[in-house]
Amino acid sequence: MKVTFKDVRLSYDGKTDTLKQLNFTIPDGALVSLLGPSGGGKTTTLNLISGLLPATSGQIFFGDTDVTKQDALQRKVGMVFQNYALYPHLSVRDNIAFPLKMQHVAKAERYQKAEELAKLVHVDDQLNKKPGELSGGQQQRVAIARALAKSPSLLLLDEPLSNLDARLRIEMREEIRRIQRETGVTTIFVTHDQDEALHISDAIMVLNDGRIQQFSTPTQLYDRPENLFVAKFIGEPVINTLPAEKLAADLTNHIDGDILVRAETAGIRSEAIVPNDYGQGVLTQIHASLHQAQKYGREATATLDYQGETLLSTELAGLPRDQSEGDFFLTRAGFFLFDNRGELIYGGDADDQ
Ligand SMILES: Nc1ncnc2c1ncn2[C@@H]1O[C@H](COP(=O)(O)OP(=O)(O)OP(=O)(O)O)[C@@H](O)[C@H]1O
Ligand SMILES: [Mg+2]
Repeated sequence: MKVTFKDVRLSYDGKTDTLKQLNFTIPDGALVSLLGPSGGGKTTTLNLISGLLPATSGQIFFGDTDVTKQDALQRKVGMVFQNYALYPHLSVRDNIAFPLKMQHVAKAERYQKAEELAKLVHVDDQLNKKPGELSGGQQQRVAIARALAKSPSLLLLDEPLSNLDARLRIEMREEIRRIQRETGVTTIFVTHDQDEALHISDAIMVLNDGRIQQFSTPTQLYDRPENLFVAKFIGEPVINTLPAEKLAADLTNHIDGDILVRAETAGIRSEAIVPNDYGQGVLTQIHASLHQAQKYGREATATLDYQGETLLSTELAGLPRDQSEGDFFLTRAGFFLFDNRGELIYGGDADDQ
């Protein structure tokens, strides 16, 4: 089911807007993540989609139907929360079948559906157990199966993996992707973990301060962050940032003057600082001194001192340690300029370069 927000605003207290004006369309059949820091408005947005929370103004559409005035039940969404909220006294079979029981579906039919769903989420060997006898990952699988029991218009998941340990989180996020592909149900997944969002989503909506910062594919978020917030929020290690004027002399022959005068902040990804000009799309050469090189397992990082700024690179592993000063190169990919409002004005094939 396609979901559209038109000028949706939400205020909890009638004074300040927690969500400013949200406009977006989530395509039918997609898996979309809502990603952002704590308090950014992810859960609020999800609750507006589900109908648990009424919009203060604006319109919400499911397909072409205006559902703004419909409650959660009428919207027929399936929800999964961080704490699985399974019924402890019911078996796995009865937990999954519970929403169908509420709808007075006959026992044989609802058990058949529960068994199909248990197979889908790989808990079909646990049907007679109680939730307390399952691991966290298994409980979350049961919660997903239960949310799917009513063949919902949408599957909404609010930080469903945050109670699981790191390894299980990775396994379960792959499972959510698989289950979504197999069912084709439009799925909206809330997380504050960028790695999780980048791995499983068709598209990611980055929310901060009640506004959409960017809504695009994971690749675009990384390769073409539309503003400084997204550039800093997405990517590990965090992008290097420095005042653009410090680079002025090194950029002047390579970037248009009218862009340079508007540039306030430069963003340089750690992999965009390289030791040689091997024709990998070099933008310019910089002179800097090598501070420190470290290697942990497969990961090698080095810090450079450039115009009094510290820049982190992940591409300088093989460099001789005694080479304290020298020439380094910045590649075009991973180099960005932002104006005084933090908007992207150069890099990632920005329109106006
Ligand atoms: N019921 C409420 N009444 C008043 N303010 C609320 C309510 N729920 C959330 N808020 C406020 O709205 C803002 C957005 O909250 P929301 O829960 O949507 O954030 P979030 O992105 O889900 O954060 P988290 O990652 O911590 O779950 C926050 O400033 C929060 O304090
Ligand atoms: Mg939340």
